[in-house]
Amino acid sequence: MADVERLGSAPRDVLQALLEAVADAVYLVDPDGRVVFANPAALRLLGYSAEEELLGRVSHPTIHHSHWDGSHFPQEECPMLRPRLTGETVRVYGDCFWRPDGSKFRVAYSSAPLAMPEGRGAVVVFRDVTSRMEDEAAAQRAAVEHARAAEIHASRARIVEAADAERRRLGRDLHDGAQQRLVRVLLALRMAGRGADDETRELLDGAAAEADAAIAELRALAAGIHPQILTNRGIAAAVESLTGPLPLLVEASIPETRYAASVEAAAYFVIAEGLTNVLKHAQANVARVTVRDEGAWLVIEVADDGRGGVDVAAGSGLRGLEDRVAALDGTFEVADGPVGTRLRAQLPLT
Ligand SMILES: Nc1ncnc2c1ncn2[C@@H]1O[C@H](COP(=O)(O)OP(=O)(O)O)[C@@H](O)[C@H]1O
Ligand SMILES: [Mg+2]
Repeated sequence: MADVERLGSAPRDVLQALLEAVADAVYLVDPDGRVVFANPAALRLLGYSAEEELLGRVSHPTIHHSHWDGSHFPQEECPMLRPRLTGETVRVYGDCFWRPDGSKFRVAYSSAPLAMPEGRGAVVVFRDVTSRMEDEAAAQRAAVEHARAAEIHASRARIVEAADAERRRLGRDLHDGAQQRLVRVLLALRMAGRGADDETRELLDGAAAEADAAIAELRALAAGIHPQILTNRGIAAAVESLTGPLPLLVEASIPETRYAASVEAAAYFVIAEGLTNVLKHAQANVARVTVRDEGAWLVIEVADDGRGGVDVAAGSGLRGLEDRVAALDGTFEVADGPVGTRLRAQLPLT
C-alpha cells in the first residue's frame, strides 16, 4: 500500500491502520481521478477481492458510470470529482455505485479535497444505504397509501353528508311546500262542498279524495327521502310514525335523546331498511327495534323471528347501509340470529 505515503506528513503506518480499521468505506483518487488507495470495506462493498483489481483505474468510469436507472453519467457532471477541481467538499445521499459484475447499490458519500505531492486529489468516504433507502421508500409508500385511504374515507363521509343535507332539504320542501298547499286545497274543497247541490258536492268530494290521496303519497315520498319528523323530533318519534301503519308487530325501545343529524339519519335508515326487509322477506311474527346509547357508541339493532337467510350480496339495501355506516366510522353486522335475522349497527358518538 505504497500510495498511502502520498498522504503527506502523517506517519504512514498509523494512517494505513486507521483506514483499514474504519467501518466506512474509503478510497482516494489522485489528480487524474485514478484510485490510489481503497480500504477493505471499500473493496468489499465495491465487489473486488483484491486491491490490484481496482488500483490505478479512473474511478468514475469504473464504479460510477451510470445512474440508478442505467442511464449514462457523464464524468463532467460527477459531483464526486468536483473537490479535485474546486477544493470544496461534496456530500451526496442516494447516488449509486456499480460493481464489476454489473450489480449496483445505493450510496451516501462525501468527497473532500486532498493535497497530494502531484496536485489535488480527493478522499471519498461512502456507505451502502440500499436497505435504508428501501425502508424509506416503503415508509413513504405506506404514508401515501394511508393518506389516500384517509382521503377516500373523508370524501365518502362528505358525500353521505351532502346527500343527507339534500334529502333533508327535499323532505322539508315537500312538507312545507306542496303538502301544505294540498292540505289547503283539501280544506277549501270540503268547505265548498257544504253549500253545494248534490251533483256539485259529488264532484267536490271526488276532488277532495284525490287531494287526500296526493297528500298521503307526498307524505310517504317525503318519509322515504328524509322524514320531517326525524329532523324535528328525532329517531324515536320518526320510527314510531314509521311503524304505526305497518301490518307487523314491532317492539321498539329507543331513547328520546337527540343526536347529530348524520347519526340520526343513519340510525333511521338502518331501522327503516331493516323493517322493510322484515316485511318483504322474513315472514316474521314480530320485529324488535332497539337503540342503546352506550356513551361512546349508539347501538342500533333490528331483529325478527322470521325464516332467516339474509344475504347482503343479493340486494342493494343492506350494502347501502354498510356504506352509510362506514362513512361515519361505525360498524355494521348482518347475521342470522338464533331465530330469524338480526342487523346491528354501531355509530360513534364522538
Ligand atoms: N329480515 C330478513 N329475513 C330474511 N331474509 C332477508 C331479510 N333481510 C334481507 N334478506 C335477504 O337478503 C337480501 C338482501 O337484502 P337487501 O340488501 O335489503 O336487498 P332487497 O331488500 O332490495 O332485496 C334480500 O333479497 C333477502 O333475500
Ligand atoms: Mg331491502
